[in-house]
Formats: sequence, C-alpha cells, structure tokens
Amino acid sequence: MRIKFLGHACVQVIGSKTILFDPYLTGNPVAAAKAADVQADYILLTHGHGDHLGDTVAIAKRTGAKVVAMVELANWLSQQGVDAMGMNIGGSYQFEDGLKVKLVPAWHSSQLPDGAPCGLAAGFIFWLDGKCLYHAGDTGLFGDMREVIAPHDLDWAFIPIGDYYTMGPADALCAARWLNAKNYLPIHYNTFPLLKQDAAAFKAAVEQNTPAKCAVLQPGGECEA
Ligand code: NI
Ligand code: MN
Repeated sequence: MRIKFLGHACVQVIGSKTILFDPYLTGNPVAAAKAADVQADYILLTHGHGDHLGDTVAIAKRTGAKVVAMVELANWLSQQGVDAMGMNIGGSYQFEDGLKVKLVPAWHSSQLPDGAPCGLAAGFIFWLDGKCLYHAGDTGLFGDMREVIAPHDLDWAFIPIGDYYTMGPADALCAARWLNAKNYLPIHYNTFPLLKQDAAAFKAAVEQNTPAKCAVLQPGGECEA
C-alpha cells in the first residue's frame, strides 16, 4: 500500500482500493494532480470548506467513486448527482470489499462554498489491507485524540500543521504524542503564505519526542504505508 500526497489536505491511499481524501486540486496552488486525471474508488470528505470539497463532485461523477461524508454534507452531494453515503461522528461501516471507515470528531467548522451549512467537520479512521490510518481533517488539538482515537492503534496519522485555521506545529507535536501512531504525515501547510511551516523541523521534533517516524512529502511525493 502506498500513500501519495497531492497537496494541502489531499492524500491518496493506494492499496487494494484507492482512497482519496479532500480532493482540492483546481485552484490549489500546490496541487500535484489534475481533477480530470486522479483516480479513486472512494472519496472520504472531512468537511465542506472549499479547500477540501474541491473537485469532489467532478471526480466522483467521472470515476463513479463513492463519497463518504457527514450526513448533511452527503445529502448535498447526493443532490449534485454524486453517489454519497452520509454518516455521523462515532459511526463506522465495513464495506464488503475490505475498506472500513469510522468518523471521529474534529474541532473545526463546516460550510459549503455557497454558504449553506453542512453539519459538523469530521476526521476519518479507516482500515485497509491490514493497516489502520487516520486523516484528522481540519482540527485544533483536542484531548479525545488520546482518549478516543489513539486506542485504535494507528499505523499512520495525517495531521495538519499549518496553523491559523488548524493546529500549528507545537499543538501537532502534542497531537503526535497523544495519538501514539507509528507514522505521521503532516498536511495542510505551505499551500498559501499564511500556512507556511517548516515540515523538516516538525519531522525532527516528532522523531526526537516520540518513538514514531514522520514522513515529509512534497506535493506529488509518495511513500510506502
Ligand atoms: Ni476547513
Ligand atoms: Mn482547510
């Protein structure tokens, strides 16, 4: 299984199925793929903000990917003609093809680009090909990373470090301690000047202060999961 970073919060996990997160590609200054080319069997969408919703509708229609999102956001996607499945915080679902997903809290707001509300923001824990991974979405630091999320025994955690709209590096380091994952991938940074961060310094801090490894991927970069 491979993890490919496409820029901002857009991560593709390529195993027996291809899972695509938050496909903001069109208009994303650091996007490493075009919406017309990217592949997905599932799109997991953390919330409705434009830098996450992105090209979800177009990619889902072209590929036939099933979109998993909070129920209010999924309802809106269904109205756009997308095959969307609406869940809610704490709920999990085992697909017959092997993927399992669980929605977990994220401390963040959520709204569609047209201003319509679309429920709460969320993170995803997901299981594929024997590994357990976590995409935190947009969030501040919260104690349930330790109490609710860490007990899932994470192989990977994708966590925001950009600050301003989400955790910055100091809180993300605390998150790394609490999540107790084996590997981290920083996301949601260096997309815009406001989110400029030193990912190499974050990697060094994680690897000095926890037993985990931290991968730093440039947009378009990938690594073995
Ligand atoms: Ni957001
Ligand atoms: Mn965001």
